[in-house]
Amino acid sequence: MSDELTVTVDGTELRVASGTTILQAAKRAQSWIPTLCFDDRQAPFGACRVCMVAVEGAPKPLPACTTPCRDGMVIDTHDATSRRVATAVVELVLSELPNAPEPHTELAQIADRLDVTESRWPGEIHHEGHDFRHPYLAFQHELCISCGRCVRACDEVQGAFALTATGRGFHSNITAGLNAGFEDSSCVSCGACADTCPTDAITEITLLDGVVPQRSRNGSEGGRAKFRKRRRIASE
Ligand code: SF4
Ligand code: FES
Repeated sequence: MSDELTVTVDGTELRVASGTTILQAAKRAQSWIPTLCFDDRQAPFGACRVCMVAVEGAPKPLPACTTPCRDGMVIDTHDATSRRVATAVVELVLSELPNAPEPHTELAQIADRLDVTESRWPGEIHHEGHDFRHPYLAFQHELCISCGRCVRACDEVQGAFALTATGRGFHSNITAGLNAGFEDSSCVSCGACADTCPTDAITEITLLDGVVPQRSRNGSEGGRAKFRKRRRIASE
């Protein structure tokens, strides 16, 4: 049996290997699908529902990041219902933040591309909560959208298991170690969490305006971080 499949994405027919997801096939067909909880360095999580697409014969939109292609699948990434879902999710996520995300962040760029300028859902917003105890990494809890990418980066990419998802719903967030901050956790300062964070809830401390790098517990200068955000490098 051939391990290749034929799929059609937005009218473009292509051959893909068995196991290819709709998102991967769409990338090959140069069709854009918005994503929030996805990072191609991590196993797909399928939590945010921003990546919905229409598949011919399917009763409702399917998440592109976790759905494998089937032979003969006909995929529509421009489907109006799917885009409405994506737009609503992004609006909802933005409505919980005290400030608009910085323009360079993935969340801001997705909102821009989906033409989301303001939320229709004013309501409770996250309270400011900052953790600047680590010499390299800053945590701005109010910007966390609970996508889980930092936890998966820490577990899957680095194997450090320093971060944990906490709470539920509106109160969900991320904590390091036993909430004593990165510095007292098993964090190895690799920066994988900051690199993947789509909102800068975790970011390199030296990139924050007005934040002076702190001294580490052994008294050495915090200094420059060992890493740089991939997206920042691309835009520099
Ligand atoms: S800190 Fe960033 S990467 Fe981690 S869950 Fe929150 S928004 Fe996602
Ligand atoms: S990117 Fe597919 S569900 Fe989040």
